[in-house]
Amino acid sequence: MSSLSDHIALRRTFAIISHPDAGKTTLTEKLLLFGGAIQMAGAVRARGEQRRTRSDWMAIEKERGISVSASVMTFEHEGLTFNLLDTPGHEDFSEDTYRTLTAVDSAIMVLDAAKGIETQTRKLFEVCRLRDVPIVTFINKVDREGRETFDLLDEIEKTLALDVSPVTWPIGMGRDLKGVYDLTRDRVILFDPGRGDHIAEIGLDASLDSPELDRVVGAAAAEKLREEVELVRAGFPEFDIDAFRAGHQTPVFFGSALKTFGVAELLRGIGRLSPAPMARKAVSRTVEPDEAKVTGFVFKVQANMDPNHRDRIAFFRICSGTFRRGMKLRHIRTGKAMALVNPVFFLARDRELAEEAYPGDIMGIPNHGQLRIGDTLSESEDLNFLGIPTFAPEVLRRVRLDDPMKAKQLKKALEDLAEEGVSQVFKPQDGSTWIVGVVGPLQFDVLSTRIESEYSIKAGFEEAPFVTARWVACDDDATMRRFIDANKSNMAEDRDGGLVYLARNSWQLTRAQQDFETVRFTATREQH
Ligand code: G4P
Repeated sequence: MSSLSDHIALRRTFAIISHPDAGKTTLTEKLLLFGGAIQMAGAVRARGEQRRTRSDWMAIEKERGISVSASVMTFEHEGLTFNLLDTPGHEDFSEDTYRTLTAVDSAIMVLDAAKGIETQTRKLFEVCRLRDVPIVTFINKVDREGRETFDLLDEIEKTLALDVSPVTWPIGMGRDLKGVYDLTRDRVILFDPGRGDHIAEIGLDASLDSPELDRVVGAAAAEKLREEVELVRAGFPEFDIDAFRAGHQTPVFFGSALKTFGVAELLRGIGRLSPAPMARKAVSRTVEPDEAKVTGFVFKVQANMDPNHRDRIAFFRICSGTFRRGMKLRHIRTGKAMALVNPVFFLARDRELAEEAYPGDIMGIPNHGQLRIGDTLSESEDLNFLGIPTFAPEVLRRVRLDDPMKAKQLKKALEDLAEEGVSQVFKPQDGSTWIVGVVGPLQFDVLSTRIESEYSIKAGFEEAPFVTARWVACDDDATMRRFIDANKSNMAEDRDGGLVYLARNSWQLTRAQQDFETVRFTATREQH
């Protein structure tokens, strides 16, 4: 029988961050392939526009006709259990992405070798940095002509202020790609382009000095490699696991997701270097993963996974203890006990009933709306995990309903979708129609499409007279009442009845803040 700490040591919970088109989907697919989760490559592809405007799992689900949520994929490799959490691939930065990143212990940053750091890579990296999430870098598409390798590494160091430590090094690139050299093991892995999409790796115990290297990659490439490796060793720090785990240094791997090249090294790298599930901060104290009692938090809610049922799945990350199916956990926000009789794991092949789960694991908990993003469940102690905020939306629009008879259904749809955290809904106190807020404008297309397909309601979004929202609070009730009176046409409530100030422009917001200095305006709200 393995102990709880053995189970913890064998788990890696991570996400992939990248700019669209860098190769996240392809890499995910290949990682799953290594985990034996998908028999055939080419299965997780979701294409073009569909992939951009809808959440990834929907497109994937459609394409494959399976009931798997690609939000979480669990697979095993060389004795380790990997939980890969998908960050939605929209161009827009979404809150969903942010919160998913609160549930991982490390991330892979995928870069396109021809493009380097792109806008979305940078944004997502900044989110990881907030919690010092350790980042493993994968420079993808080395089977195509890319940028100068040293340039790419310099760019990472300079633009992200992150030390880099190459673990593998490409031998040639594009048409001249011969393989990669593993700096940590003094070993060459050859690329065999003739093998197409199949696993094209031939490990070779040829060290840098060996004439064998000249024979297999050619004298010129061997010479260049020797020179480059010398420069790498002189110019970049050696891999330092503490610096990596503190989020200050990133080990760098090179490869081609498409050609399944360098992917095994990457996966082994995560197994070897990335941390096992770590301690988590709650309001009262830090919770260690090997504590006996089960605790965890909800970081994502997905409604309407099955169009025939209006159920939701809450994605729950276990932070401590051994979970067993049927266990009763306390729902801290309501104080009620919840018996978890049908939680599911997300093995990439299918959903599977979770009998036992350990820290770092993600379970799906079907529910009818009781569980919300940010909720903590705990076996005994009254705990609230920190760090799962709601952001003030950056874009606000007013809902336009084509059929006024459907107002009630529309309210339900907006509330359901807000519960998933893709959007926020505000009810102005002057009685006018709902204002919906999102972090990026593309989300409105997703919302309209989903409202139509899942609720059969035609609704659009039009310009709202507001540009930004802030939660407001004040310790003094009388001042708060005065504030509300003075700003009647700006006041709204969020779906929990929380008071929100909607500003028509930034000047108005500043003015309101100056007029009422004791009122607190906040752009984020922690949910507990
Ligand atoms: P994303 O999820 O990060 O948006 O990227 P995705 O994996 O969908 O890859 C984007 C494009 O880049 C795809 O081509 C994919 O085949 C290609 N790609 C991914 N990894 C590699 C690689 O290692 N080498 C090369 N040469 N190409 C790679 P596409 O033509 O846009 O998509 P599709 O029509 O093939 O689906």
